[in-house]
Amino acid sequence: MKFTHSALLALAASAMAAPSATTKEQPRQAGACSSAVSLDAKTNVFKKYTLHPNDFYRSEVDAAAEQISDSSLAAAAKKVGDVGSFLWMDTIENIGRAEKNIADVPCDHIMGLVVYDLPGRDCAAKASNGELKVGEISKYKSEYIDRKYFLYTPFLSLIRYGGKKGKKADKRKNQTAIVKMLKAHPNTAFALIIEPDSLPNLVTNADLQTCKDSAAGYRDGVAYAFKQLNLPNVVMYVDAGHGGWLGWDANLKPGAQELAKVYKNAGSPSQVRGFATNIAGWNSWDESPGEFSTASDAKYNSCQNEKTYVEKFGAALKSAGMPNHAIVDTGRNGVTGLRKEWGDWCNVNGAGFGVRPTADTGLELADAFVWGKPGGESDGTSDTSATRYDSFCGKDDAFKPSPEAGTWNQAYFEMLLKNAVPSF
Ligand code: BGC
Repeated sequence: MKFTHSALLALAASAMAAPSATTKEQPRQAGACSSAVSLDAKTNVFKKYTLHPNDFYRSEVDAAAEQISDSSLAAAAKKVGDVGSFLWMDTIENIGRAEKNIADVPCDHIMGLVVYDLPGRDCAAKASNGELKVGEISKYKSEYIDRKYFLYTPFLSLIRYGGKKGKKADKRKNQTAIVKMLKAHPNTAFALIIEPDSLPNLVTNADLQTCKDSAAGYRDGVAYAFKQLNLPNVVMYVDAGHGGWLGWDANLKPGAQELAKVYKNAGSPSQVRGFATNIAGWNSWDESPGEFSTASDAKYNSCQNEKTYVEKFGAALKSAGMPNHAIVDTGRNGVTGLRKEWGDWCNVNGAGFGVRPTADTGLELADAFVWGKPGGESDGTSDTSATRYDSFCGKDDAFKPSPEAGTWNQAYFEMLLKNAVPSF
């Protein structure tokens, strides 16, 4: 490759300016480990590492506890902050939120992050439509996953954004991209959940125009994420819905093939460990015969609980040629029997926190129970006039009122806490 003189200058400037503003401000060494992490994705890393209780969720929970007047409930609330959970990078800007929380990860903890910003996100629903539009795949790649351009150089920012857009350029200067952030923390272990709902939607909602429009970007984006995030300190689990979604007999094989195809297109990256389930929409781990087993269509779904789903989908993934170990979200599945229909996913009313993160699942294929969706953050708004209002959030079995997806819902949090199984 040839470099022009100015490109070389830009390269040098970029190298000098590389650490982001956040990197400089944070006391990076505080809890940092002294040697590089090398995760073997052929093993269950959750046996060695505890899912990190990140300070972002802790601060949400602490603020919530302060609003609770009943002192014993407030004390119980505080304990929720000690539970390990995943932190969502749901916008380019919120990668910075993740970065602020890495400094204090102890050596025996693994930081859980959710990669969630595909163009045309949430194609079969409205609640979590994201910042990137269909077609903005190059932005997803170059600004969210892996910054390829030299946006840090004041010179190039000036050319790219001009004097008028100086503020925009300034903001970008302080942003990082995920690959860069992960590489800046080689001594920290990371578990990534890749793009909840995206590939499952291509299996079961392929006939919707919105999903047709999003399909190419989803496949390209997830493959790109797999490839670029394939770092020694990372293990990846790609979202596979839950038993009431890809667990239908007719969906198991196509679902596994969809995931495996993307994985192979990415060059079968070594750090992909398998799949994540129960994140958006959930089931009990091992209730038997299962919450919806008496429904008239139950005979078409042999995965009536999540344990069976992990076994069956895991087997289908293996046949399709993809690593097949799972992590399962138990953050909000403490109570069952609440939904009118299996597919009801929005702010389920009556829900309770479930089993705390552990690698002790009793099933070899299930690496760990984790808290994927941070309990208390909304699934979607119940305001019928909002642009992202989805009718699922207005159903009889959905909690109301509920704010926009990702926004804190104090009343929902208190309900999860009171209904927690096991209790706090
Ligand atoms: C929302 C995201 C949020 C995530 C975790 C998703 O439903 O769309 O904005 O970060 O949930 O709460």
